[in-house]
Amino acid sequence: MLFRLLRPWMLMSISAWYFFSTALKLLTSGDFRTLTSWPAFHGTWFANFWAHIAPGVKANAEMRVLALLEGRVREGHIYEEVVGQPVEGIVLEIGAGSGMWVDVFATIAERTKRSGSSAPPLSKIYGVEPNAQSAAALQQRVKESGLDGTYEVVPVGIEDLNNPTAWGTHIEPGTVDCIVTVQCLCSIPEPEKNVRLLYNYLKKGGRWYVYEHVRAEYGTVVPYFQGKKQPPVFKHTGIMV
Ligand SMILES: C[S@@+](CC[C@H](N)C(=O)[O-])C[C@H]1O[C@@H](n2cnc3c(N)ncnc32)[C@H](O)[C@@H]1O
Repeated sequence: MLFRLLRPWMLMSISAWYFFSTALKLLTSGDFRTLTSWPAFHGTWFANFWAHIAPGVKANAEMRVLALLEGRVREGHIYEEVVGQPVEGIVLEIGAGSGMWVDVFATIAERTKRSGSSAPPLSKIYGVEPNAQSAAALQQRVKESGLDGTYEVVPVGIEDLNNPTAWGTHIEPGTVDCIVTVQCLCSIPEPEKNVRLLYNYLKKGGRWYVYEHVRAEYGTVVPYFQGKKQPPVFKHTGIMV
């Protein structure tokens, strides 16, 4: 109970710490362009903050995310055996951040290959990440994981997936087998518009794997206001924590 009350304050304190340390780093390195532009500063600040907390968040979520992507989740419950369909084919990982889930994709790709299953393999994964600092870390993780050639970093936001001038190529709507969003819908601007936009990229019969956080489940006041501000577009899909 006490931990639940203190946790938001701990996160806000860490975030405040990264605000000042990011500003100081930019000041001492003479990067005044980033320092004086709010969107650029905000992006760097968030990337530094998330790089610090992401490993802990991942450790807490990994077992559930792996089960979800392996098709072992139904209606929010985890099973030992496969009860649905694993992630496969052409995949969009949205808001891939610094690449916390790249090794999970590598594990799934390896297990599918070894099992000799007739399921289509993970043929292509597009890691969509508009934050330049996080996209660079993501690229590094792809290299380390051995998914080079299968996992491609897309350094733009959802809004520009089909815009070749933004990243040199584009993704055709209706061509994607699976979309994966892990703890990222909280960060996506205009979620209703962008969730709709993303749906268009799925093939007929395509699947969306959702693992979310920051949903208030206890009490009445906070869940009420959260529901008003953020309509639960994915209430019954995947896992929400
Ligand atoms: C809370 S982080 C989660 C990162 C990663 N999924 C993880 O679990 O570690 C949310 C991510 O969404 C990204 N993001 C923000 N706006 C986006 C957009 N318009 N399109 C795609 N990703 C976006 C952010 O840059 C950030 O890396």
